[in-house]
Amino acid sequence: MSARICVIDTDPGTDDALALWLALASPELDVRLVTVAGGNAGLDRTLPNARAIVGLSGRAVPVVAGADRPLLGAFTAEPRVHGADGIGGVALPEGAPAAPGIAADSIRAVLRAEERVTLIGIGPATNLALALASEPALAARVEEIVLMTGAWAEGNITPSAEFNAWSDPESLAVLLGCGRPVTLATLELTAQALVTPARLATLEAAGGGACLAAALAILQSVPASRRFGFRGFPLHDPCAVAWLLAPQIFATRRVHAAVETHGTARGRTVIDRWERSGQPSNALLLDALDADAFFSLLGDRLVELP
Ligand code: RIB
Ligand code: CA
Repeated sequence: MSARICVIDTDPGTDDALALWLALASPELDVRLVTVAGGNAGLDRTLPNARAIVGLSGRAVPVVAGADRPLLGAFTAEPRVHGADGIGGVALPEGAPAAPGIAADSIRAVLRAEERVTLIGIGPATNLALALASEPALAARVEEIVLMTGAWAEGNITPSAEFNAWSDPESLAVLLGCGRPVTLATLELTAQALVTPARLATLEAAGGGACLAAALAILQSVPASRRFGFRGFPLHDPCAVAWLLAPQIFATRRVHAAVETHGTARGRTVIDRWERSGQPSNALLLDALDADAFFSLLGDRLVELP
C-alpha cells in the first residue's frame, strides 16, 4: 500500500514534538510539509522548535512558517504546560533553516501537486483554514483532515473550550464546513492516552537514539495534571497521527460538530454524539482508544528514529 501523502500543521509544543516524530518515523506516512503556527508558544519559538524536531529526525521535510495569530482575536500562548520555549526547556540542536514562503501557500502547493493529501492539524487551525479558504477548489484534493481539537465535555483552557479550538474558532469552523472528511481527536479521546510514570519507564527501556531521548526529556518536563489526580497527563497530538497508522486501536462514531465563536463559550465545540440536533454528520469522532496499543506503537516507532 503506498504511503499516505500528508501535511502536518503544528504549534510545537511538547506533545506536537512526539506527534511529529511519530509521523516522521512511520513508513505509512509520506510527510511532504510541516507548517507552523503560533499556539503553545509564539511563532518565534514554535518555528525553531519545529525545525529542530524535524532536523533531529534526519528527515528532509520542509518546515514553513505560518500564522502568528488567529484569524480574529488576540494570540495567547500556553506556557503552563509547554514552558516559555514551548518544549519544556529541552535544548535541541538547531534544525535547518525554514523553507521560504508562508504556510498557506505551501499547503496549497502540495494540494496542487498531489490529488490526495491528508491534512493533520495539531495546533490552532489558522494555516489550514487560510489555505482552503483562499482557494476552495483545492479542497477536493483533501483526502482527510485529522484534527486534535475540541471537546464534547469540559475544556482545558476555559471550562468549555479546548486550546486549539479556542485559539482560532473561526478557522476551525472553516474546516468543519469545508465538505471534506474531518476526523476529530478531542480531549475525551486524548485523556485515554495518559502518560504515567510506568509508561515513561517503558519508553525509557526501549533504548533508541537522540529523538527518543529528547522525547523522554520533553515528556518529563510536562507537569502531572490535577484533572487526572496528578497520575499523569494526556498525550494529545500523537493520537491524531496514530489514527492514520493504526485505526484498529480506535473506536469511532459519526457526529455533527460545530464551534462557538462568540460569548463566554467561544471556542467550545458542540459535538452531537447522539443525533439530537437533526444535523447531518460532518465529522468522524475518535471515541475510544486502546491506550496500551497506542503507547506500544509510539515506542516501537520512536525507537526507529536516529
Ligand atoms: O488542547 C491540547 C492541544 O493544544 C494540543 O495540540 C497541544 O499541543 C495544544 O496545542
Ligand atoms: Ca499542538
